[in-house]
Amino acid sequence: MVSPEATPFAKTGGLADVTGALPAALQEVGDEVAVVMPRYRQIPYHETESAFDNMVVFAGSTPYRVDIRTQVHNGVRFFFVEAPYFFDREGIYNVNNRDYTDNHKRFAVLSLAAIGIAQTVFECDILHCHDWQAALTPVYLADQQHSNPRFANVKTVMTIHNMGYQGIFGKAAFSDLGLNWGWFTSDKLEHFGDINLLKAGIQTSDWVTTVSPTYAREIQQPEGGFGLDGVLRSRSMALSGILNGVDYNEWNPETDKFLPANYSSGDLSGKRICKRALLEEFGLPSDNLDRPLIGIVSRFAEQKGFDLIAGIANLVAERDVQLVILGSGEPRFERIFQDWRRWLPHRVGLYTGYNNALAHRIEAGSDIFLMPSLYEPCGLNQIYSLRYGTVPVVRATGGLDDTIQEDTGFKFSWYSVGALYDTLRSALGAFENRDSWTARMRRGMAKDYSWTASAREYSALYQRLLGRG
Ligand code: ADP
Ligand code: GLC
Repeated sequence: MVSPEATPFAKTGGLADVTGALPAALQEVGDEVAVVMPRYRQIPYHETESAFDNMVVFAGSTPYRVDIRTQVHNGVRFFFVEAPYFFDREGIYNVNNRDYTDNHKRFAVLSLAAIGIAQTVFECDILHCHDWQAALTPVYLADQQHSNPRFANVKTVMTIHNMGYQGIFGKAAFSDLGLNWGWFTSDKLEHFGDINLLKAGIQTSDWVTTVSPTYAREIQQPEGGFGLDGVLRSRSMALSGILNGVDYNEWNPETDKFLPANYSSGDLSGKRICKRALLEEFGLPSDNLDRPLIGIVSRFAEQKGFDLIAGIANLVAERDVQLVILGSGEPRFERIFQDWRRWLPHRVGLYTGYNNALAHRIEAGSDIFLMPSLYEPCGLNQIYSLRYGTVPVVRATGGLDDTIQEDTGFKFSWYSVGALYDTLRSALGAFENRDSWTARMRRGMAKDYSWTASAREYSALYQRLLGRG
């Protein structure tokens, strides 16, 4: 697997959760997997060891010298591409919300190194590439396949985690990739005059997957394709949706080490302790634990439905509810919640930044989890919520629609403030009937979205591609 991020080493979103957990699940069903990613600054060098020194990869005539470091985590071998000139930086993709201007070169080298690894230290049958940062892997492989017999039977899978991020660069960057101009055509890398790396990956890989069945359909429509719906329709025979799993070793209220108390479906008393502690952590009154507490954990991005959330301030002001928010991202959304906090200091708690332990405590301590996304390829937080007995209120899109049903949560279709308002009101109304609410919580807690089922689907796909299925 080739990925720009994986837990516990580097994470900006759910992709890292996937590449941190899926490989181990695949190994459990009988595949042997290694993950290739950059060694960013925050990954301790001294905890890795050498796998291959002085590997020279070529983007055209430009040589890049990299070392390959390695570490085994949870039984899975990770290969880290050691290239300080590209990866020893403050951020992963950007700093102060500004993308690094050489990202195309940084991730071209990741892909080239992955192929180098496949040629030297880890011969493989499948190269499984995640998101635009790894999308040049099938391109370089195709480029080398003619000249390198070792790769003749290697198959490639491209997994799309989010159509909103495609790796688009100006035409001037093309020469940095070391590909001949034959690649700069509209059926390959070129897209409206620019370079589009995700498009290149979609066009050149043997199979394309995305992270839920509903999203696989949505991205083939103009509303969901971000300009690549036609390209995806043209590949519909080699495109499927495989729902993500979640790592219940990490996300389980019975064992979660970040919580002040553990609990289970059979004994929910610890959840009230979590709720009280969470309110106190945010400096909110904890006098009445029967008052509904709504939680949000999210990147502050338009994708996540913050335009709608911004529109329900009145509901938060009028109803006897409390709200805790954890997130970071676009400053305009941060400002909205800072205003709410000033306006309703007893009702609204806000933590801006990234805080994994707090994410766990919000999942546990809240009654309702709010996730009204504009679009959602899969979404993991709502699946965590189910397990923590925190009832999700979601928009019926992508993976949210696939994972939340009427008996476990509340959902609406039309992307409007009114629809969110009405749905949240229904949820708050239902909350007053404790018995039926608890039954709903328990139905959610009983759902099983562990990785095993997804891993089996990926494994079957690999076998089919290799002609063994
Ligand atoms: P996306 O990848 O689009 O951001 P997902 O729901 O798939 O959405 O995954 C988000 C992951 O990132 C979850 O594991 C969630 O807990 C975590 N997360 C998001 N924002 C924060 C934050 N501010 N602090 C801690 N964890 C966060
Ligand atoms: C993306 C999507 C999210 C998905 C995650 C992991 O970041 O936005 O919906 O769960 O990738 O596949």
